[in-house]
Amino acid sequence: MGGEDLRALLTSLTPEEEQLLYDAACEVRRSVYGTDVYLRGLIEFSSYCRNNCLYCGLRRGNEKCQRYRLSREEILECADKGYELGFRTIVLQSGEDPWYTDAWICSVVSQIKERHPDTAVTLSIGEKGRESYQAYYDAGADRYLLRHETINAEHYKLLHPEEMSRENRIRCLYDLKEIGYQVGCGIMVGSPYQTVQHIVQDLLFMKEFRPQMIGIGPFIPHKDTPFGNRNRGTLQDTLHLLAITRLLLPDVLLPATTALGTIDPGGREKGILAGANVVMPNLSPAAVREKYMLYDGKICTGDEAAECRRCLERRISSVGFQVVVSRGDWAGKETI
Ligand code: SAM
Ligand code: SF4
Ligand code: FES
Repeated sequence: MGGEDLRALLTSLTPEEEQLLYDAACEVRRSVYGTDVYLRGLIEFSSYCRNNCLYCGLRRGNEKCQRYRLSREEILECADKGYELGFRTIVLQSGEDPWYTDAWICSVVSQIKERHPDTAVTLSIGEKGRESYQAYYDAGADRYLLRHETINAEHYKLLHPEEMSRENRIRCLYDLKEIGYQVGCGIMVGSPYQTVQHIVQDLLFMKEFRPQMIGIGPFIPHKDTPFGNRNRGTLQDTLHLLAITRLLLPDVLLPATTALGTIDPGGREKGILAGANVVMPNLSPAAVREKYMLYDGKICTGDEAAECRRCLERRISSVGFQVVVSRGDWAGKETI
C-alpha cells in the first residue's frame, strides 16, 4: 500500500468498505495470533514529569496535577499481584521523573525478573541516553514503549515545547531497536493540528521502522492543559487506523487502548474486532490511579487490579476471543 491508497482508506469508506477493512484486518491477525489476546499489566509508578508536552495532564506546567511516586516495595507488590492474576508482562510507565536514577530502575527491573523469570518487563519512561537504555536492557528489560507521537516535524513542534525534538525521539527509537528491545512506537488519533497527510506519513514511517508494537489511541483533551478545549479523536478514525496498521504490519502487537475504552464504553472490544490483539489493564494501587490523569474521564480509576482483570476477560470473550496467560511475544522475524 502506497501513500495514495492509505489516504483513500483514511478518508473515503462506505459502511460496507469499512466492514471489509475490519474483516480483512481480523483475518490477517487470526493467521498470525489466532484468537488469543495478550494482557499487559500496567504499573503507573510516578506522575512527576520534567516535560511539558502540550497535550498531557502530567505536563510539568499543570500545577493541579496530583504528584506521587511509588516505592520499590509498592512496585514489587503490584508486580507480584499481577503475576498471581495471570499477567506475564509487566509494564512500568511514568512521566519523565529524574528522581528515579538508572541504577534504581535497573534494580527494580532485575528484582521483578528474579521473582518472576517467566515474565517480560516493558519500560515506558520516556527519552533517555543510549547508555541508560543499554543498562536497563542488561538488567533484564525486554521491551520499550515510546510513541513517536507524529513523524511530521512541523506537527511535532505544534504538540511540544521548544526544548523537545522529533529528532531526539526518533534517535531513541533507533537506539532501542539496535540494543535489542522489542520496541513500540505510535501516535494519538485526532491530536490537535493533525491532518490525513500526517497520518499517512506516520504509517509510512512505521512500515519502514517495523516496530514490534504500535500504540494507537484517540487524543482526549485534559482540561488543565493548553489543549483543554480541543476535540477528542473519534472512535471511527481510531478503528480505521488500527485496521490499516494491522494490514500494513501483520505481526505487530497492537493494543486496544484505555483511551479507546474511555471515548466509547465498548471501545476496546471494537478495537479487538478491528485488528488489535493486546489489552493493558491497570495494576497501579487504587489509591494513586486518579492522580495519573493524562486526559479527562480516564476509565478504571476507581477499580482494583483484580476487577480490571476480570472485567477485561469478560469483555474479550464477549466478542469471541480469549485472554491468555502468556508473555505474548512478537511473532515476527527480525529482518535487519
Ligand atoms: N512519559 C512517557 C512518554 O511520554 O513516552 C510515558 C508516559 S506518557 C503519559 C504515555 C503516552 O500517553 C504518550 O506517549 C501519549 O501518546 C499518551 N497521552 C498523553 N496525553 C494524552 C492525551 N491527552 N490523550 C491521549 N493520549 C495521551
Ligand atoms: Fe511527560 Fe510523557 Fe506526559 Fe509528555 S506525554 S508530559 S513526557 S508523561
Ligand atoms: Fe478496569 Fe473494566 S477494565 S474496570
